[in-house]
Amino acid sequence: MDRIVIGASWGDEGKGAVVDRLAVDSGLVVRYNGGDNAGHTMHIGDQKVVLHILPTGVLHGKPVAIGPDVFVNPKALLTDIEEVTGKGFAPKQIFIDERAHLIMPYHQELDAARDKNQGIGTTKRGIGPVAEARANRKKGLTVGDLFGNNFRERTKEIVLLYGEELRGVAEGVSLEEYADALATEYLQLRETLSQFITLRSTVYLLEEYENILFEGAQGTLLDVVHGTRPYITSSNTTAGAVASNVRPGNYEVVGIVKALWTRVGEGPFPTEMDSTQSETMRVAGDEFGATTGRGRRIGHPDFVALKYSALINGVNYWVLTKVDSFADTAIQGCTAYTKNGESTSEIPANMDGWEAEYTTNYQWPKTDWKSVTKETLPDGLRKYIADIHQYTGVPVGMITFGPERGDYLWLLNK
Ligand code: GDP
Ligand code: IMO
Ligand code: MG
Repeated sequence: MDRIVIGASWGDEGKGAVVDRLAVDSGLVVRYNGGDNAGHTMHIGDQKVVLHILPTGVLHGKPVAIGPDVFVNPKALLTDIEEVTGKGFAPKQIFIDERAHLIMPYHQELDAARDKNQGIGTTKRGIGPVAEARANRKKGLTVGDLFGNNFRERTKEIVLLYGEELRGVAEGVSLEEYADALATEYLQLRETLSQFITLRSTVYLLEEYENILFEGAQGTLLDVVHGTRPYITSSNTTAGAVASNVRPGNYEVVGIVKALWTRVGEGPFPTEMDSTQSETMRVAGDEFGATTGRGRRIGHPDFVALKYSALINGVNYWVLTKVDSFADTAIQGCTAYTKNGESTSEIPANMDGWEAEYTTNYQWPKTDWKSVTKETLPDGLRKYIADIHQYTGVPVGMITFGPERGDYLWLLNK
């Protein structure tokens, strides 16, 4: 069975740790969207591994692939390769799709400069500008270009196409000189990378491997179409991205949802806690971004958004993460949004002014999680799990109660 792992909310739901648990049964793990704006943290024994672009399957020695819809920063990829190699998980086989677009240093600089005015609170990894370059068609550079035989010329052509926009980035040198230096730097990166990677269209790999696991980055509410715009990322983060960018198929969709909700960066968050409560929970859950180190905003579970996420992704079951971190917490469930006396259980396209209405609450004690079974789940947690099913129509298939590989319990027979 091929599976897709997606984030239900605004990212950092614990996708990486879940992929690490599911990868054990997989033939190939494919990263299918986003770029190194992602930060997936895994704990294996006393090792903590943070990956930004390399699929998590490397930690089980599985072959991994970077799909055509991923934005590839070669430096970030090398850093990930060093991270895993240094920790004793040298990758066996890394495939990269030639159609994937390259993140160039000017994308990052443009991202940082623009975000000062736009205030989206991006990760400054160049995601918006590289997505624009791809949509523009002529301005895009791909992995195929990097490994082709006229990368220097292509880089110059594109830098000149940007023209004035890159004048500030090219500090004190002509655009031609800037392009030349960039090409030299990237061709060196190509040399290093070529020791580790194999160029291959992802779609052909699907014929060669079984039990493929697609690792999503970001979350549904950051999706460029379905998210809380304009406070979103610039790529497709939902399960549909696998169908449109790799291949439609009969997938099991696994939605990851955290016991308390979080968001990094700006944008609407109807269930956000007040700053004092947020601060306490941030520390309890160690909720700091793996990519930028920013403190995550914290909120109550939002069943309105979760139902939307279930529908958009066609989720088969949820994995509810971090039930350990948020034990002993008074959690409220948001079941509707209200505004000026109006109430809705459907997420509005424009969330301005909509407030969370809470009708349920949950609390469970700290527990000896390793010995918990389906039958001995604490009552408050059992009620929470039942309500997730009731309000979204999708059951919770697994809970996780710690960052380590073994810290999980299946509730469905899988
Ligand atoms: P991702 O981006 O969705 O992969 O999530 P992140 O890795 O950015 O953030 C999730 C954090 O929670 C990581 O530090 C994980 O190691 C940690 N984590 C995941 N599941 C659990 C869990 O069940 N309990 C605890 N305590 N930590 C968890
Ligand atoms: P993972 O895969 C959490 C957020 C940024 C910002 C918005 C746009 O670890 O869940 P971008 O740099 O993409 O243009 O920023 O999206 N964002 C994430 N938040 N987890 C992520 O990835 C994110 N990737 C992007 O904080 O609000
Ligand atoms: Mg993350």
